[in-house]
Amino acid sequence: MKIFIDSADPQKIGRLAASGLVDGVTTNPTLMLKAGLRQKDAITRICRMIRGPVSVEGVGETAEQMVKDGQEFASWAKNVVVKIPMGQEGLKAVRALNRKGIKTNVTLVFSVNQALLAAKAGATFVSPFVGRLDDIGENGMKLVEEIMQVYRNYGFRTQVIVASVRSEAHVAQAAKAGAHIATVPPEILEKMFLHPLTEKGIAKFKEDWDAAKKGQK
Ligand code: G3P
Repeated sequence: MKIFIDSADPQKIGRLAASGLVDGVTTNPTLMLKAGLRQKDAITRICRMIRGPVSVEGVGETAEQMVKDGQEFASWAKNVVVKIPMGQEGLKAVRALNRKGIKTNVTLVFSVNQALLAAKAGATFVSPFVGRLDDIGENGMKLVEEIMQVYRNYGFRTQVIVASVRSEAHVAQAAKAGAHIATVPPEILEKMFLHPLTEKGIAKFKEDWDAAKKGQK
């Protein structure tokens, strides 16, 4: 499973990219606001560090505007993917961008039918938001499992990005469901390296190493 970083902060992305484990990045207007940078500046900086897909989202409401914005985003770097909100206008824009050879990520997906339509429209990626479904008492990961099953049934090539990830458990569940990608907030990716027994084990080995050295002649 590929791991993307869900952030628009070039510093945080750069730190994590040094691990060699970051396969791509997803951003949205909220993450852009948090990063406090102009969208084009943030994205061009991120695209210099990350070779994989970098999703960029606009706020156009018509297919025409989404295509116009998408073409502009795609001109910033060759790994830009245009994030398009689910809906009739959005999927029209996906088809048009597809014809122009521009990759798309259909976002704000909350049902199997939405994922089915996005795949039929030719989306490169589809982003079910698991955390936001959990927030309203539904089961976000169950949706991911169902989308994977439908895509397998028909051989769709659209890749599933598990988004709105709230915990390390979501990432493990995404991998168990066979999702292509999980997009993970930086703080959660940092936690994925850790386990209390690993830290405890390292401390004990260090202690024993030092004791052994003292005992040697
Ligand atoms: O990539 C967008 C998605 O991950 C948003 O997550 O936490 O705002 O529901 P969240």
